[in-house]
Amino acid sequence: MNNNNFTWGVSSSAYQVEGGWDADGKGPSIWDNFSHVPGNIKNGDTGDIACDSYNKVEEDVYLLRALGVKNYRFSLSWSRIFPSGRNNSINSHGIDYYNRLIDGLVANNITPIVTLYHWDLPQALQDIGGWESSTLIDLFDSFADFCFQTFGDRVKFWITFNEPQVIAWAGYGAGTLPPNVNDPGSAPYRVAHILLKAHARVYHTYDDKYRASQGGVIALCPNIDWVEPKTPSDPRDIEAADRYLQFLVGWFTHPIFKNGDYPEVMKWKVGNRSELQNLPSSRLPVFTAEERDYIRGTADVFCFNSYTSKIVTHSTTRLRPFSYEYDQEVLTKVDSSWPSSAITGHRAVAWGLRRLLNWIKEEYGNPPIYIIENGVGIKTKSDVDDNTRIFYYKTYIDEALKAYKLDGVNLRGYNAWSFMDSFEWLNGYDPRFGLHQVDFDNPNRPRTPKRSAVYYAEIIRNNGIPL
Ligand code: BG6
Repeated sequence: MNNNNFTWGVSSSAYQVEGGWDADGKGPSIWDNFSHVPGNIKNGDTGDIACDSYNKVEEDVYLLRALGVKNYRFSLSWSRIFPSGRNNSINSHGIDYYNRLIDGLVANNITPIVTLYHWDLPQALQDIGGWESSTLIDLFDSFADFCFQTFGDRVKFWITFNEPQVIAWAGYGAGTLPPNVNDPGSAPYRVAHILLKAHARVYHTYDDKYRASQGGVIALCPNIDWVEPKTPSDPRDIEAADRYLQFLVGWFTHPIFKNGDYPEVMKWKVGNRSELQNLPSSRLPVFTAEERDYIRGTADVFCFNSYTSKIVTHSTTRLRPFSYEYDQEVLTKVDSSWPSSAITGHRAVAWGLRRLLNWIKEEYGNPPIYIIENGVGIKTKSDVDDNTRIFYYKTYIDEALKAYKLDGVNLRGYNAWSFMDSFEWLNGYDPRFGLHQVDFDNPNRPRTPKRSAVYYAEIIRNNGIPL
């Protein structure tokens, strides 16, 4: 590949790798508390120690350097920096930790890509309502402002929210992830509204106070699985596939990359469902004209995570009535003819990534695009010799590069998920996504590069798939 500016990296997130859950003055997050309740996480696992990255800055930077990555995407633990979530108590040890990590990366020519929020809300802020409370717009802005001021001389690539749809739906609708609010009809829409306003506020803070001197970029990082209509000749399935994407990703990116407002199909469908319930107005909140202006254009690049593809059919039945899911009128399934990627429900469908990249190009006018997470979870404790993972990366990267080279998609970078085996949320340490194996039975958490790490390093060296 002749573009030497293409950036190859690996990704992680704070709660999944850091450990040190109460070290040196860190405050509790909703994930600390949730994982401490027996039965919540598979095998009783917690992120208390995780990969112990809190104590392994030098080793992690050494491994990143050995891999040859151009960037490392990680997240900041809000409650490690502001233990109570607010700027009236600042934990200098937490700041030292991130300074050491960022300095280590920069000294090795590895660009830090920093996510401000990857799901681990300070518990103190959940206690005042979490993302259902508009107070969090100010508080998130003040956290972001502090991070720009403290780390922005070296960090030039910021992501506000990792997977806002998961925050809104899994956290406040289905209630499967903390804070486990089960209100599928309206809370996700209210939460998303607040997340969008918080994102826009942070973008404007950066613009007003830091952009001129720091010159970085700000983005949001939605999760997007590609979907195919089950019956490609059935217009209802084709519309269902588009609707699925609008509810999943357009919910956030349509306001930001288009007109400051939700996709028309969401406004229509959610409004329609409200009428059926005789509610006075739609459950989808409404932006004022001023808010639309404020939100439109608040991302410099288009980031996303993607793992798999699904098939969809149009459906108005068998869905929980008057919920975000029902509003979509879509049923998703896995296609059993697609190869299983060994983690339940996920299929390895590399061509889906190419189609998704082309969809983003068409839908949003080909902005600069970064794949921030892509990878495969394998249910085995010792997969140093990992052919499945190598096959996954080979085929997915190949399709991403076809989109880039043949289809003119403005793809700027690819990040593998993940740097190392880590705490995989509800699944604990069972599925392993890492390029490095971590021995979680050993208190020192030793890391061993897998064969996929060697393979990925070769891709980076070649700036593409080796011939
Ligand atoms: C993404 C998250 O959803 O996918 C990561 O940003 C997560 O934090 C990864 O670990 C894998 O998740 P899952 O649900 O596919 O195991």
